[in-house]
Amino acid sequence: MQSLRHLLEKRYVMVLAGDVIPVLSPLAVVPPREEGQGILLGVDDKGRNIYLNPYSLPNVHGVILGTSGSGKSTLSRHIILEAREKGVKAWVIDPHGEEAYKRLFDNSIKMTVDKINILSIPGWSHEEYASELSRYIELIYAYYGSRNVIRKLILRCLKEGSLSPMEKFVDEDPDISRLYDDLIRIHGDAPTIAELSDRDIYFYFPTMVSQEIGRLSIQVLLLLLQGYRRSQGVKKRLEQIIILEEAHLFSKYLLSLYKEIRKWGYSLIAISQLPREFDIRLYQLAGFVLVLSGSESYIRDIAALFSITNDEKDHVLFASRGTALFFRQGDPRPRKVFLRIREEAFS
Ligand SMILES: Nc1ncnc2c1ncn2[C@@H]1O[C@H](COP(=O)(O)OP(=O)(O)OP(=O)(O)O)[C@@H](O)[C@H]1O
Ligand SMILES: [Mg+2]
Repeated sequence: MQSLRHLLEKRYVMVLAGDVIPVLSPLAVVPPREEGQGILLGVDDKGRNIYLNPYSLPNVHGVILGTSGSGKSTLSRHIILEAREKGVKAWVIDPHGEEAYKRLFDNSIKMTVDKINILSIPGWSHEEYASELSRYIELIYAYYGSRNVIRKLILRCLKEGSLSPMEKFVDEDPDISRLYDDLIRIHGDAPTIAELSDRDIYFYFPTMVSQEIGRLSIQVLLLLLQGYRRSQGVKKRLEQIIILEEAHLFSKYLLSLYKEIRKWGYSLIAISQLPREFDIRLYQLAGFVLVLSGSESYIRDIAALFSITNDEKDHVLFASRGTALFFRQGDPRPRKVFLRIREEAFS
């Protein structure tokens, strides 16, 4: 434990490597077997197929890292298309809004314009949900110290099934007023999480929304999904993939989500170009991490987080798009992948 702490303090933890993970997770003692099926990512240097099969890993959730323009969204689209062929539904949650994603979906939800029902909360008790949501509201809006008041107001809203208990306070408190204004833009007599979870959906935003309302609506959506999925019980197979763009904005939440090792039928894939913005423990908890190519400074960041050899570094350093390192929990070494992206995934 002493040596582990030492490594953590140096921010150098040999993430996912077999020599550290067994301390953290007994499940990871046996390296994962080679996958012969799943989502085809590409080939290795010997031309052998490399598959991603989130459900066979100790943790179903994963991360995709890469500098701007390295192909994160393109790879995500490839994953969605592959998964779809296997009957797996997909959501993309994309704060930026990218046409190339949208055209892959029949259903899209423009958050804050198209409402969702945030007061129908299967899988959560009122108390739990109010407490979680107020925790993230405090963080997103920097309303430090107001958490308890917000929690109580949310609790009342849940009991009444409407936001009107909060409306009564808008004249008294500018913070509550701001929060109420944002919540009524997200919430409505609209699809519930049970209805949304069943469909392939692309979630995006109008261009002129504040970062706070963007973050709040995504946070609520993720909480609703988490509860709903839990209410459906542990599943034997993957039913839904969630691609979350700009995932570093949800670093705290993801850390608590990735701590859950039971498999509720969905896999969240966190996409980011800022590897250092995540809590380092997220990389230890993740079932898989895909690192795309990038510049020297970016690869230096990666090498500070993962234990990689020079050869592995070279595989993604300055490489033209289309190469990746594929870390799987419990595997002592990452696989060097030459991606084979489906044509329809390109923008
Ligand atoms: N494997 C690949 N081979 C060749 N070109 C690729 C590959 N992956 C992506 N590209 C191209 O590179 C460009 C950038 O890709 P993409 O938008 O997926 O990057 P990104 O990492 O999501 O960027 P950003 O951080 O800006 O969102 C696109 O024009 C895409 O078609
Ligand atoms: Mg992108």
